[in-house]
Amino acid sequence: MTANSNRGLAGISAGTTAISTVEAEGDGLFYRGYDIQDLAEKSCFEAVAYLLIYGELPSTLELNDYREKLRSLRELPAALKSILEQLPATTHPMDVLRTGCSALGCIEPENGSQPHTIADRLMASFASMLLYWHHFHTDGKRIDTQTGDDSIAAHFLHLLHDKAPDELHCRAIDASLILYAEHEFNASTFAARVTTATLSDFYSAITSAIGTLRGPLHGGANEAAMALISQFENPDSAEAGLLEMLSKKQLIMGFGHRVYRHCDPRSPIIKQWSKNLSEAAGDMSLFNISERIEKVMQREKGMFPNLDFYSASAYHLCGIPTLFFTPLFVIARTSGWAAHITEQCSDNRLIRPTADYIGPAPREYPNP
Ligand code: COA
Repeated sequence: MTANSNRGLAGISAGTTAISTVEAEGDGLFYRGYDIQDLAEKSCFEAVAYLLIYGELPSTLELNDYREKLRSLRELPAALKSILEQLPATTHPMDVLRTGCSALGCIEPENGSQPHTIADRLMASFASMLLYWHHFHTDGKRIDTQTGDDSIAAHFLHLLHDKAPDELHCRAIDASLILYAEHEFNASTFAARVTTATLSDFYSAITSAIGTLRGPLHGGANEAAMALISQFENPDSAEAGLLEMLSKKQLIMGFGHRVYRHCDPRSPIIKQWSKNLSEAAGDMSLFNISERIEKVMQREKGMFPNLDFYSASAYHLCGIPTLFFTPLFVIARTSGWAAHITEQCSDNRLIRPTADYIGPAPREYPNP
């Protein structure tokens, strides 16, 4: 084995899981046996989060109770509001959530609580943290984070825009949360499992995961994809710009995947949402630019868009500021992270690989 053969742990199985399976050849994704296409079409994010965290889809009664429970967990403690007020207005929203999660761990410490209790609290209150911080620093308002909305998607949009959310936007965000909820041993989930395996607490595992998700090779790609598509005026200038970027061997954000070979099964679903939203807005410009970029990437590199690519235009069309794209991913993925933390705890062993040493041979310490 050469020192480079396992770079990035590509193709290495790092354990077993019963939570989801990513089928690289068939290009499928299943959460606890359910096809992502069925979930995105027939389910809602709260039911999917319940499936991931509690193991089975909820009955109608269980789903109503779960929605009610999540609604009751939207308020923020005064100490957390005070911390959010002291963060600079220039803070990256992912850092707001990373800090908010860590701070909540000090204010409402784990103290023997079950992981699912804290998972529900975080999923319900992440939008509150982000948008409390946002409104305080942009309009000087201390918003009430409790809304009567049924879903996490509607709660997010309601707090963001300070009005009852548009139904189509709610459904689009809800579908995207389903698609973002879980993805096997991706980098942030693996970070959460590594932290958990040391017998650290739930908040620490989620804080590690948020920090890992933030990077543009992982969750941050949806923000980077927006920066890409919004720099072009029309499909022709996008094609010319893309060809130039490819000639300089630049990475095209929102394309490529470590596991999938032919297609990301989530991409056609979010692409359809991006199209629906564009049609409803009567503005196909971003969608047409995105579609041309997809064609050029297929033709020139044989590469396909991942979930992040069409999420960018879909989120933009829902009026979501670009810097809030990855925080939405956090809200969704907290359900998957929680499931993995619980699974790791149930059969734990410290995760500690070895490395192939390539540094200097042993040598004498120099005399002073
Ligand atoms: N644009 C242009 N070229 C790309 C590319 C992209 N988005 N993704 C991969 N490539 C190229 C690499 O440059 C490399 O080319 P080379 O063999 O000539 O050096 C080749 O494809 C293999 O890529 P590699 O970096 O080994 O793949 P990986 O499995 O390590 O990385 C990603 C996977 C997702 C990190 C990578 O595709 C990427 O950076 N994509 C953009 C960021 C993104 O969308 N992330 C979200 C993932 S869901």
